Amino acid sequence: MSDLFAPRAALQRARRHAGPLSGDEWRDVVTAFTNGTFTDAQMAAWLMARVMHGITVDESVALTEAMVNSGSVLEHPSGGGPVVDKHSTGGVADTTTLIIAPLVASVGLVLAKLSGGSLGHTGGTLDKLASIPGMRTDLDPKTFVQQLATVGVAIAAATTELAPADRRLYALRDHIELVDDTALIAASIMSKKLATGATHLVLDVKLGQASILGDDTLTRTLATQCIAIGAAHGRQVTAVLSDMNQPLGPAIGNALEVRAAIDVLSQRSFGRLGELSVLLATELLCSTGVEPAQANVTVMEALTSGDALERFRQLVVAQGGDPHVVDDPTRVLELKPPTALWTPEASGRVVAIDTKRLGVLARDLAGPNGDLKAGLELTLTLGMQANQVVIAIHTSDSGRVGPAKQVLHDAIVIGDAEVTPGPLVQEIIR
Ligand code: URA
Repeated sequence: MSDLFAPRAALQRARRHAGPLSGDEWRDVVTAFTNGTFTDAQMAAWLMARVMHGITVDESVALTEAMVNSGSVLEHPSGGGPVVDKHSTGGVADTTTLIIAPLVASVGLVLAKLSGGSLGHTGGTLDKLASIPGMRTDLDPKTFVQQLATVGVAIAAATTELAPADRRLYALRDHIELVDDTALIAASIMSKKLATGATHLVLDVKLGQASILGDDTLTRTLATQCIAIGAAHGRQVTAVLSDMNQPLGPAIGNALEVRAAIDVLSQRSFGRLGELSVLLATELLCSTGVEPAQANVTVMEALTSGDALERFRQLVVAQGGDPHVVDDPTRVLELKPPTALWTPEASGRVVAIDTKRLGVLARDLAGPNGDLKAGLELTLTLGMQANQVVIAIHTSDSGRVGPAKQVLHDAIVIGDAEVTPGPLVQEIIR
């Protein structure tokens, strides 16, 4: 059978067979899709047929490999030791990347992070970095790898050369309502991580109300699929299942989250954001062979000695940003006092938080031009007494304040019920 007919034959089998299809068939189909001989319509039919029958782990592994092979793979110097990365399935008030990246670099790991912009109700690392004056994230592969050698950390925009089939497939999945299949999400995430050359990866997989899948069982499946794909490619993947039933940190919004990250690195605050950052950094260090108790001590020392903060400064300098952001984030990020404050009218305690809605609200406060300084600062945790809750609203358009207060009123539920917030980390799968 010629190459041209193999994907069509595979498509027929995909429709008829409930059982798994071979790695060769996945490869043929993705290759044909990449070079244009398999159309979007054929690919959509293939994906839908396989999802309806259930994609196996072996098939996800083959799909991941085919997507990696659709583009180039970042070359790291041979014998250079582990290349680590951290990925989150998407959080609210979650700026752990900006803390973990310099933290692990300051303990001697090399962290290579290619990132995207914000997705839906969750923030994106690139948008946060864009709020630092001068900061560039459009690093070419050579500059990116060079910076890893000198600073130990680089955070840049994912280029179109890495796993291009994933981009096209994602757009297609979006079009046919197939973004929420765990096997396809796992292959999508892992293809980008493998193309970046990560040898050790910590995945922060969010559970709860504001998680991407909105279903904890499916979310666990996603975590185990990512681990299996990593293992099949000889990579060490650790999944930390963390809570997203309430915002993780004290701010939602790009510049506000940069300031929150610097506050943790400067030890002005810690909280759940600091706790999860330290845990994820510790897991990364453990995955490279360091004994757990020692890994935790090493990470905490890097934080308390100021080494991690200094590494953040070096990262900013290397990518053209204003290093004074480290010393005076409020001035350099041009953050103003809040436009308005909101406190609950009812008495009682916080019994539920629509975290997803708060994420969407922060995005809406930025307006159509995406004001990077807009967002929310939160004195808010589940179970907190209502009279202690304060939400600071930041927006350049005072017309948005009224509707924002209404959203806050709806999203932050005050009542008398006993509340026992779940643990920050529910499980770690290695
Ligand atoms: N993030 C990804 O990279 N891919 C998906 O399919 C979903 C979330």
